[in-house]
Amino acid sequence: MAVLSIAGEAVAPAGLLGRPVYELRGVSKTFVRRNVQALDKVDLVLREGTFSSIIGPSGCGKSTLLKIMAGLQPPSSGSVVLEGKPVMGPRRDIGMMFQQATLFPWRTTIENIVLPIEIRDGKAAARAKHDQARQLLDLVGLKGFENVYPSELSGGMAQRAAICRMLITEPAVLLLDEPFSALDELSRDFMNMELQRICLERNATSFLVTHSIPEAVILSDVVYVMSPRPGRFVEAITVDLPRPRTLDMMSDPRFGTLVHRIRNHLDKGAFQ
Ligand SMILES: Nc1ncnc2c1ncn2[C@@H]1O[C@H](COP(=O)(O)OP(=O)(O)O)[C@@H](O)[C@H]1O
Ligand SMILES: [Mg+2]
Repeated sequence: MAVLSIAGEAVAPAGLLGRPVYELRGVSKTFVRRNVQALDKVDLVLREGTFSSIIGPSGCGKSTLLKIMAGLQPPSSGSVVLEGKPVMGPRRDIGMMFQQATLFPWRTTIENIVLPIEIRDGKAAARAKHDQARQLLDLVGLKGFENVYPSELSGGMAQRAAICRMLITEPAVLLLDEPFSALDELSRDFMNMELQRICLERNATSFLVTHSIPEAVILSDVVYVMSPRPGRFVEAITVDLPRPRTLDMMSDPRFGTLVHRIRNHLDKGAFQ
């Protein structure tokens, strides 16, 4: 098993020597009622300003891992520490995004974006965030769409609104569960480049679940390959392409080599 040491006294891949933001130690998860072991002793350190991805077969425990990191589910054993404090439940320094934008149809774009603030701090606080929400809409190319309802947005536009809703609370970390997998390929490529730009601008620490190898490689500093259930990391692959990445880099031989290497790993048993 080609495991790069990412636990304990971790050997950080070159260029990934930043401050640890997330630290997971021996995280396991068993769903007792269904007797399913989803995760087996996952160790992970995410460093400030880095973008990491996790790739693995369907059902291997990726979403479960993300939910545990977000404090939405407790691990059965092991520890999850963010910014030096154990994650015991949802926290304001964590931003999450899912495959579906899940905008409320009866709220306008801007009302959807400030919803996390409204839930947390009330209506007045949410109203006070409208200017900031407009700046975010500008950032993701949705200027002028603040007062329309979700039914008037395309899939890509709705996901951009979901990015704004994630960013409005100014989270230190972004947890992304296949956020663009429902989009067509062109929109997805475009959104990936947008995501990179936003992450670089904010020096965000990001963790992406995907089952697209090219998406993982083009976005990430490190790609973690997960085994079939119970999910374990079987390899951590450092992507040393320069930043900012461009879609042209997908024809770079180094890109091809990395994609090939990850595919090999997955073929060797990850997709059974
Ligand atoms: N709340 C739950 N209760 C019981 N089993 C679950 C629950 N959530 C996920 N599982 C099971 O855990 C395994 C991993 O699920 P998941 O993390 O969603 O996988 P992935 O995101 O990699 O496709 C699956 O077998 C799934 O059926
Ligand atoms: Mg999933």
